[in-house]
Amino acid sequence: MVKFIFSQMANLLSSGIIANREIPKKYVVPPGKRHAQAGFIEIPIIDLQDQKNSTQNILKASQDLGLFQVINHGIPSKLMNDAMKVFKEVFDLPPEERSKINMKEDLNQVCRIYTSSYNYDSEEFHFWRDVLRHTCNPLVECIKFWPQKPENYREIVGEYVVALKDMGKKILEQITQGLGLEKGYFASELTEDNILTINHYPICPDPSVTIGLPRHKDPTLINIVQAAPVNVPGLQLFKDGQWFGFETAPNAFLVFVGNQLEVVSNGKMKAVVHRVVTNASKARTTAVFFMSPTMDCIVEPAKAIVEAQDCGPLYKAFRYKEYFDIHTGHDGDRDTILESYNFKIKQSSIP
Ligand code: OGA
Ligand code: NI
Repeated sequence: MVKFIFSQMANLLSSGIIANREIPKKYVVPPGKRHAQAGFIEIPIIDLQDQKNSTQNILKASQDLGLFQVINHGIPSKLMNDAMKVFKEVFDLPPEERSKINMKEDLNQVCRIYTSSYNYDSEEFHFWRDVLRHTCNPLVECIKFWPQKPENYREIVGEYVVALKDMGKKILEQITQGLGLEKGYFASELTEDNILTINHYPICPDPSVTIGLPRHKDPTLINIVQAAPVNVPGLQLFKDGQWFGFETAPNAFLVFVGNQLEVVSNGKMKAVVHRVVTNASKARTTAVFFMSPTMDCIVEPAKAIVEAQDCGPLYKAFRYKEYFDIHTGHDGDRDTILESYNFKIKQSSIP
């Protein structure tokens, strides 16, 4: 378990440390590491009710970009809005209510509220975000650790995460089909670890000197993201050597291919490098649902895919914990972990 620093909770950006509109020194990104201008890119929109085309469209987007958005996904917009409302309310709770959130935890069930990242103490500079993060599976166990305020948090978010898991399973079933894997391939330890992370990016007096979240690839199998308000820019992706901002369709969820899906698909699907920039006029909140392997799960390229290719496995088999520990303990850019830590089999001639 990652050690946790209490001051990190007291120092939430939402607690008012930016009230005087000055950026605390520790949040200023060193000049050489600041972000430059970005272009604009369209993210493919997949209509999940379009049964004829959705599987192929998901496959294509996952191969080309590692990111797509889904509409007609069956999750009511009222539930999406209600969830976003309680997420925002958590960051407005009085400090004594917020401190109760961090009191509750045992070895496996975690619910925390903090600023920047788990590596607060050692990181070179802090990230311009506050975070609420909790486990979701098994729900009956985890829910006892979730915030008790706002009053309806558990009820609404309980329903929300069940709906997200359900939708995630359906999307993964389509990916299973598209990749030619046996039915139910991902309905396994590969997706049983579910964490919900709420990122809150407050208004930033000078977005040019801060970063909401530095460049990374997601450590999971897939991440499902709801952003609000949808028209506030923040997320950017890296493609062909350039950064691009993008918009999210109303009531859509973004789906990111994570590093573990890249491994299981033996490189057919690519995790996308992305980051979050801050905004001078509007706060932005995102709900990120992680579908991850359990810590003991062995992650490896699916045999059926490797057999159908002629390049052999491009990644070694590893226990997920081995990867995850590197990811969480890593202070720098988290986009080259597969390559830098030898999860990728180097001698392969396939790109
Ligand atoms: C993440 C992430 C995007 C966002 O949490 O991994 O990429 O806009 N979040 O919060
Ligand atoms: Ni991410």
